[in-house]
Amino acid sequence: MLPPNKIALAATVIAGLASASPAHKHKIGTFSAPQIRNPNFKAHGPAQLARTYIKYGVALPEGLQKFLSALEELFNKRDSGSAKTTPEKDDLEYLTPVSIGTPPQVLNLDFDSGSSDLWVFSSELPQSSVSGQSLYDPSKSSTAEEVQGATWNISYGDQSSSNGIVYRDVVNVGGVEFKSQAVEIATTVSSQFTRDTNNDGLLGLAFSSINTVQPQQEKTFFDNILSNLDAPVWTADLKYHAPGTYDFGVIDKSKYTGDITYTDVDQSDGFWMFDVAGYGFGNSTFKAAPFKGIADTGTTLAMIPAEIAGAYYRQVKGAKLDSQQGAYVFPCDSVLPDFIFGVGNARYTIPGKFINYSLLDESDPTTCFGGLQPDMGIGFAILGDILLKSTFVVFDAGTESTPRLGFAKKTL
Ligand SMILES: *[C@@H]1O[C@H](CO)[C@@H](O)[C@H](O)[C@H]1NC(C)=O
Ligand SMILES: *[C@@H]1O[C@H](CO)[C@@H](O)[C@H](O)[C@H]1NC(C)=O
Ligand SMILES: *[C@@H]1O[C@H](CO)[C@@H](O)[C@H](O)[C@H]1NC(C)=O
Repeated sequence: MLPPNKIALAATVIAGLASASPAHKHKIGTFSAPQIRNPNFKAHGPAQLARTYIKYGVALPEGLQKFLSALEELFNKRDSGSAKTTPEKDDLEYLTPVSIGTPPQVLNLDFDSGSSDLWVFSSELPQSSVSGQSLYDPSKSSTAEEVQGATWNISYGDQSSSNGIVYRDVVNVGGVEFKSQAVEIATTVSSQFTRDTNNDGLLGLAFSSINTVQPQQEKTFFDNILSNLDAPVWTADLKYHAPGTYDFGVIDKSKYTGDITYTDVDQSDGFWMFDVAGYGFGNSTFKAAPFKGIADTGTTLAMIPAEIAGAYYRQVKGAKLDSQQGAYVFPCDSVLPDFIFGVGNARYTIPGKFINYSLLDESDPTTCFGGLQPDMGIGFAILGDILLKSTFVVFDAGTESTPRLGFAKKTL
């Protein structure tokens, strides 16, 4: 069944199509424009008409045939949506508006392919934990229902954490809606989240196997809407210092160039983990040196194997591993080569400009902080926004096969 708003949309599209169709022009049978233009139009009319034609062995008029295939497309095409995501300063994180509850309460969430909880700042937090964030208040939503006895508790790779209790409510992202999404409301957040004044929570897009709700694990928003989507995918088109988009259920051809190269995902740890085929710097030769990494929209930088990060910064005049930061810094006037990474036989480029991530310290314009950093020996690379925003990325749940990630070039 189509959600009501989709029926309205379908009706609108059909009306346009019918008036342009030869069937309408030649006024064949009962295929009348007023019926089609009716906003409450249901697909039965033309379907009935077609059945009648077929029953009596009449070839379908060309217009009706076209109309029916268009209808079929519309009704097979179940759902898709697109949500704009806006970066914070220096592309620290990308925030996307999400509507929760009835009437909708809009919160700006960080879509995170590296975790699987949808949690929000809430009216249950102590005032000292809130510094301007929008709060979800379940008592103001007529559709909110508490999940009795359920709790959640999450710690992220950057030492931040949060925990709380669980409600179910309507969640709408860019036009795609799920009526009983687990909305994990925070009763405690760590200081990192309190300081992050524009971020009202996270929307996890990793695999549901790592959702932290107990005693009964919950599904991610993506897993919940999956069977209603045209295609079992979501895509990330993040941009350098500019708003990008997350699309659900659709691969928008206008957002990339050339082909999409797919690679299998190992979801055993709950992440979108894949094999990077190798790397290269600037115009140097590509080295086939595979390593594992996760595609993580919720991480700002790209944390790559230490030896590769070291080799990269040896190409940068004056770069050093700052012992205090445990991170690579370099003189802001040094030229940064591009970083090339491989997926299958395809090669993608992170422009040097992206790797000049930011000043180390606002008060010192001479020392810059690198966008590529060594991973902490955790066994896989964390390929965050620095890498993801240089390509168009398809997260394909592959309902009948292994999940996979697709990468394509785009205009940067
Ligand atoms: C959340 O988990 C952390 C460790 O993973 C633990 O120290 C903390 O007590 C837990 N908090 C709650 C409220 O369960
Ligand atoms: C890399 O190659 C391109 C063309 O292939 C050239 O325009 C560019 O100057 C080269 N860059 C360096 C650093 O050699
Ligand atoms: C690197 O970025 C800083 C600002 O973050 C800028 O001042 C500097 O000129 C940039 N360096 C290069 C080589 O583009």
